[in-house]
Amino acid sequence: MTAAPSPFIIVAIDGGAASGKSSSSRIISERFNLLHVDTGSFYRALTAGMLRAGASATDLPTVKTALAALRLGTRVNGRSAEMEIDGRPVGDDIRSRAVNENVSHFAAIPELRAALLAYQRGQADVARAHGFRGLVMEGRDIGSVIFPQADFRFFLHADPVERARRRASEGQHDSVVERDRLDSSRKTAPLACPDGATSIDSTHINLEQVVALMSAAIAQKLPAA
Ligand code: CDP
Repeated sequence: MTAAPSPFIIVAIDGGAASGKSSSSRIISERFNLLHVDTGSFYRALTAGMLRAGASATDLPTVKTALAALRLGTRVNGRSAEMEIDGRPVGDDIRSRAVNENVSHFAAIPELRAALLAYQRGQADVARAHGFRGLVMEGRDIGSVIFPQADFRFFLHADPVERARRRASEGQHDSVVERDRLDSSRKTAPLACPDGATSIDSTHINLEQVVALMSAAIAQKLPAA
């Protein structure tokens, strides 16, 4: 008798700026052998590309022209999916102050979000092609728009003061409150906990405890790798 093939699972982790999405999804990707996809890094990479091309978030034609000229690819580095623009991996400038200040403005543009939709869904094919057992994708609209049928949908909250402290301790100039305000109030795919998602408040629990909650749910469907 042959063993039933393991399922291919999709884990969506959404939440506000510095809510712990990246750290928890990285650990989940290792524990269950899933491709780790940080969609915030995609919006950051596109923002850096837009700024390089001289596009402005307040001037839609410049954004459309710059978008039409970009060729997006994916490179798998370890367990992480990394965006390539015009065949080149994106650099450290995606965490720069200019990108922090501009990313939510570009991310509010429906045309820019539409340009990333198929690319993000296509990460499931990238995961399969590289032999992963599924993917864990983090962002703002993964459980609501990109993969509403994901096997697991988590939404991370944390007190804004605690999140600002975390970002500052990483040495970054970043206004998490202002980005959350922009991300929550935009018309297209606003940041919000989707119906049916599991909401986790990480203000007073540590990373291990967050990951333990997620792992316990996922392990019911897929044993740890
Ligand atoms: O790491 P942090 O939570 O601070 O932010 P990020 O995940 O790197 O995302 C940067 C920005 O990209 C967010 O503030 C959003 O404006 C945008 N974003 C989005 O609109 N939708 C996503 N799925 C992911 C990010």
